[in-house]
Amino acid sequence: MAPAPSSTSSAVTLNINGEQHQLTVDHRTTLLDALRERLDLTGTKKGCDHGQCGACTVLVDGRRAVSCLNLAVAAEGREITTIEGMAEGGQLHPVQQAFLDLDGYQCGYCTPGQICSAIAVIEEHAAGWPSAATDDVRPEAGPPALTPDEIRERMSGNLCRCGAYVSIVQAVTRAAEDHEAAAREDDRAETVKGAAA
Ligand code: FES
Ligand code: FES
Repeated sequence: MAPAPSSTSSAVTLNINGEQHQLTVDHRTTLLDALRERLDLTGTKKGCDHGQCGACTVLVDGRRAVSCLNLAVAAEGREITTIEGMAEGGQLHPVQQAFLDLDGYQCGYCTPGQICSAIAVIEEHAAGWPSAATDDVRPEAGPPALTPDEIRERMSGNLCRCGAYVSIVQAVTRAAEDHEAAAREDDRAETVKGAAA
């Protein structure tokens, strides 16, 4: 039975992968430990437990976050997506598929965090966000091309002890290209619909 809330613990409801989970957590419990130890969502990995390796990356309200540095109590009311929530209707997320097709992993331990980060990187880039590797950050310069250097910089918080970086960059490149092509197709469909209205 879940322990009752006390001065050192609170009852929280966490929205994870579209499902509400009610649990009582010690105030010091990290989101990572709540996921792994309390909710059995072990796809999110613990590497350093100090915010330095990215293995524990999840999406919080669509933005990437290292779950070892976030408290579970602070995650209440946020939309949390873990690697278990990426596939839809039995179909892998396109970034998962790209990692699979292009061997973007070896042992796979860092892979859930890499995939969560890559999904956010592609969205951040599509929204025009610059990175430390962007040469020209003036608004009139437009969004930077998602070059391998850009990807390496944007993914630099995710370490891979197997050194699968070459394939990871290739997988992110392909997934980003697919994402752009899908966005262009959506724009085209909207234009056609607008013209027909
Ligand atoms: S386990 Fe969280 S960053 Fe390493
Ligand atoms: S695939 Fe082994 S740590 Fe990255």
